[in-house]
Amino acid sequence: MGIRVPDYIATLKPYPPGKPLEELEREYGIKNSIKLASNENPLGTSPLAIEAIRSQLKNLRRYPDGNGYYLKQRLSQQLGVKESCIVLGNGSNEIIDLIIRTFVQPREEVLMSEPTFLVYPLMTQAVGARAVKVPQKSFAHDLKAMAELVTANTRVVFLDNPNNPSGTVISRKDFEYFRSEIPQEVIIVLDEAYIEFTDVEQTVTGLEYLNDPSPVISLRTFSKAYGLAGLRVGYGIMPAEVADYLNRTRQPFNVNSLAQVAALAALDDKEFLLETQKVVREGLAFLYAELDKLKLRTHATQANFFLIEVGYDGRKVYEAMLRRGVIVRAMNAYGLDKHIRISVGRPEENQRFVESLKEVLAELESADDIV
Ligand SMILES: Cc1ncc(COP(=O)(O)O)c(C=O)c1O
Repeated sequence: MGIRVPDYIATLKPYPPGKPLEELEREYGIKNSIKLASNENPLGTSPLAIEAIRSQLKNLRRYPDGNGYYLKQRLSQQLGVKESCIVLGNGSNEIIDLIIRTFVQPREEVLMSEPTFLVYPLMTQAVGARAVKVPQKSFAHDLKAMAELVTANTRVVFLDNPNNPSGTVISRKDFEYFRSEIPQEVIIVLDEAYIEFTDVEQTVTGLEYLNDPSPVISLRTFSKAYGLAGLRVGYGIMPAEVADYLNRTRQPFNVNSLAQVAALAALDDKEFLLETQKVVREGLAFLYAELDKLKLRTHATQANFFLIEVGYDGRKVYEAMLRRGVIVRAMNAYGLDKHIRISVGRPEENQRFVESLKEVLAELESADDIV
């Protein structure tokens, strides 16, 4: 076909898609698999959110509220920020896309660290801009090196806090240093998708800088601690002027009506959130202790997932775990060939993960012996 496509689209590699769970089970002849690959909520979804979705089903013929009136009102009360500072999105992924599409032109630069959430470079390339990747230092953002790489072309900096995949966070002191080093017109995005799992004392949040002269955007999501990944709902908190621009470029009905009522109900379900945090905290303690016994190097996390250095190609470990019905994430796409990332599951899932990993490592070790 003689379709004309910009070079930056022709060379764009899509986000690595996962196969549906049912399909994997069929292909590998396994049953009752467990998925610890996408940092989802180990407990499922808030029962209050499910109830709200049920009662909204009768209204599906109507378009959703394009302004997310009730959800923004509740977020505004809970967070102590004006509604005009909140933009809702089809997952926080959409806000990432909107920020780039709104503020970045072809050939301009978007700064990020490496490894980081794969959607930042993807969306950057999709507008013909350049993703400037700064290697991390000890599995954390190297803010000094990043500040040095800000140029007159830099429009946006993405900092996932905690970082995906390492789970490390940015301290207030380090963030303030970074801000003081870069020009005021550069937009800083603090992606706080896992903020509910962090220790607040150790972590900066963008909310603290909402009234500053330089634009800081916080991204939040209902996909993780609130267990609503399938509905796609997230939001950004930003100066009202920035929100006004994003509201011009977004789709008028970007957040569907089931997502809006579910998110509203989930915000009220404090019990579910507390239980989720507890299960993750206890699960992490268990997993760290067990992996320590296996003498595997793990990375201290502030999120509901963490990295494990497995000593073998991560894809091999992923495959072998999959054959045992345990789905983890190989980190090759993130440039960490001998690591896997796992999300904390329920106690019985964590136990099964450890048992399977023991078997897999023994299997790989004996294969090495044969060679
Ligand atoms: C750092 C980070 N930001 C954002 C997201 C996307 O969240 P959402 O489901 O709200 O689009 C993820 C999901 O994995 C993530 O790891």
